[in-house]
Amino acid sequence: MGHATEVGRVLVIVPTYNERENLEPIVGRVRAAVPEAHVLVADDNSPDGTGELADAMAEADDHVHVLHRPGKQGLGAAYIAGFRWGLAEGYDVLVEMDADGSHPPERLPAMLERLAAGADLVIGSRWVRGGRVANWPLRREILSRGANTYVKLMLGLPVHDATAGFRAYRAATLEKIGLDDVESQGYCFQVDLTLRTVRNGLRVAEVPITFVDRVRGASKMSGNVVKEALVRVTVWGVTGLPARLAAARRPRR
Ligand code: GDD
Ligand code: MN
Repeated sequence: MGHATEVGRVLVIVPTYNERENLEPIVGRVRAAVPEAHVLVADDNSPDGTGELADAMAEADDHVHVLHRPGKQGLGAAYIAGFRWGLAEGYDVLVEMDADGSHPPERLPAMLERLAAGADLVIGSRWVRGGRVANWPLRREILSRGANTYVKLMLGLPVHDATAGFRAYRAATLEKIGLDDVESQGYCFQVDLTLRTVRNGLRVAEVPITFVDRVRGASKMSGNVVKEALVRVTVWGVTGLPARLAAARRPRR
């Protein structure tokens, strides 16, 4: 099962849908950055053959595993399936990372260090000091900043990049927040789990990263992904409002 890192056994989950040209470079970078870590490719039966390539890579490297899913069911669903696989296999840390190279695996050691220092969730963050985005089209930067501002306003989360898709969770964090009733299918899954982590009184840390826009392949961001996020964040905000107001009225000690 490989050697343990300071935080235990690490599984890096990489969801894929048509990422054939990106898969080998990204897995190679993860293997170089954290040689002890294992990788799980969670593929939704990509028409471009990403799943078959992943199988060949797993054949050649015992640190690489593949989870085949029948069809495109969304980023959130892929991660839930990946988390369940990793928890059942006894991993101590479950990492989320995009396949397209936007998330630098070279920052994983710094993120794992923060987990070792006591955080329950570590986010690779674009929107803290030292973090940035490179080559992102202006409309994507506006969308991301706008989404994070709306999330902060609606949910009051003490997090600068609540929509980020580069994260390290302790297994205990996922067990505590519970995955059974997560309904988010698309990218709002990230906000959903951040909210659950904070509401459970767990500690979130952010490590600055440089997010580089993908060079190969296409983003799967769509109007429906944005719509789902907008609706769900609004519902969470409104239903959580009484508790937030009550907490604000309570005198601080
Ligand atoms: N298995 C599976 N199923 N994988 C998927 C699906 C799906 O339905 N949709 C997307 N993916 C995979 C992609 O193949 C890629 O590896 C990763 O999820 C991220 O998809 P992108 O399409 O590249 O996302 P993005 O760059 O537009 O968005 C990024 O930033 C968002 C915040 O601004 C991601 O990191 C998001 O998670 C993040 O919320
Ligand atoms: Mn991307």
